Amino acid sequence: MSRFGSIADTPATFALTGARLIDPSSGTDVIGDLAVLNGRIAESTELPPDVSRVDATGLIATPGLCDLHAHLREPGMEGAETIATGTRAAAHGGYTTVCAMPNTDPPLDEQARVAWVLERARDAACRVRVVAAATRGREGERATEIGELARMGIAGVSDDGQAVASGRVARGLLAYLGPLGLPLIEHAEDPGLANGTVMRAGPIATRLGLAGWPPSAERTIVERDIALAEETGGWIHFTHLSTAAAIEAVRRAKARGVRVTCDVTPHHLALTDAWVAGDRGFAWEEPAGVAAEPFGTTVAPRRAYDSACRVNPPLASRADALALLAGLADGTIDAMATDHAPHPPERKEVEFAAAAPGMIGLETALSLGLAAVAAGCLGMLRLLEAMATTPARLIGEERSLRPGSTADLVVFDARATWRVEAAGLASASVNTPLLGMELPGVVRLTVASGRITYADGLDTIN
Ligand code: DOR
Repeated sequence: MSRFGSIADTPATFALTGARLIDPSSGTDVIGDLAVLNGRIAESTELPPDVSRVDATGLIATPGLCDLHAHLREPGMEGAETIATGTRAAAHGGYTTVCAMPNTDPPLDEQARVAWVLERARDAACRVRVVAAATRGREGERATEIGELARMGIAGVSDDGQAVASGRVARGLLAYLGPLGLPLIEHAEDPGLANGTVMRAGPIATRLGLAGWPPSAERTIVERDIALAEETGGWIHFTHLSTAAAIEAVRRAKARGVRVTCDVTPHHLALTDAWVAGDRGFAWEEPAGVAAEPFGTTVAPRRAYDSACRVNPPLASRADALALLAGLADGTIDAMATDHAPHPPERKEVEFAAAAPGMIGLETALSLGLAAVAAGCLGMLRLLEAMATTPARLIGEERSLRPGSTADLVVFDARATWRVEAAGLASASVNTPLLGMELPGVVRLTVASGRITYADGLDTIN
């Protein structure tokens, strides 16, 4: 039986015994016990004798996951998601913090709207940080009141859904944000190259007759913004990068000391453009079906043009997905972020080119990451660093399993599998091409700010 709690609940006290404790903040990976007393990590000797004890043999305990990029859809699009449902999805996926993106209706471009979201999130199932709009109305012209918004604890600013199209405006934002220690979170996509396209350009787009998105759409904005960050000293963070060329540009800029960070989504790492033609093989698997033979006879007719696979930026070519995995493994890519983008059926169950771009991700991100680890694409410690401690550090949060720290953690079974089914998801939307698939990694317990926000099958915990 699973249950959800909130960050406003009573702080928890319990003990886990025999867990594999992985703490990327100290590089440790040991089998041991974990004591939580009144919401803080404690020494086992401090616990009262009658404390709830849970046998965690075979389970991994690690700092709570932090998502730099999620669409919670409030205000204005509550049919797709709410702060309540989106944060429950987060807790189910092992997240203890999510950053809510500002492309709501109205957008989060002024203090009162940011305050409204923060107020509604006070008793949510995880902490919510707001990424405020970079420009008023997300129109790309006039900056929002960034100084005031910074005082409210925003995680950064972004016009996500689109890039800050004007280099002049992006330059001004970076110059202003730099001294505040906040990033411009850029959706790197040149509208002139991307408008009207619906999937990654390449042989599969050609085969399907769909308008192709060229990788240069991403690279040109990445190169531009790196130049602007270098010139102004501002902090540029690229979100949901999807091309090898962009990663290479970031790699070179980091080597020069530019203040640049970036994230990648689980779907750009694990899925490929062949999914649009009906394939269901992960990027690291031996190509079969359309991926192996784009002009063969192998398009899966029942699943081809599945609008659940429409996402922006579009699913990458296999070569680029493998470059993203390598960039995540070597640290060029700092973090994994979900771009959880819920949409209601009426916006998704339409022809491919008419469908809203986006897929949900909070409940499947850890599973896709674990599948990549199982395939040998990256190490477990690096995955958890990229999903928990590094993104937390980027937004000024602490994560550690050391005694004295706030208990903020996830306990999961990396070997158990689960079937992704609509009825089992906490999100209000079910737009993911992973429905029906069996994935590794089952979250058993999530503890955010010392409170149990999700528990499954560990019912002796109080
Ligand atoms: O696929 C996407 N969906 N990409 C974006 O940039 C926006 C997002 C959304 O809000 O649905």
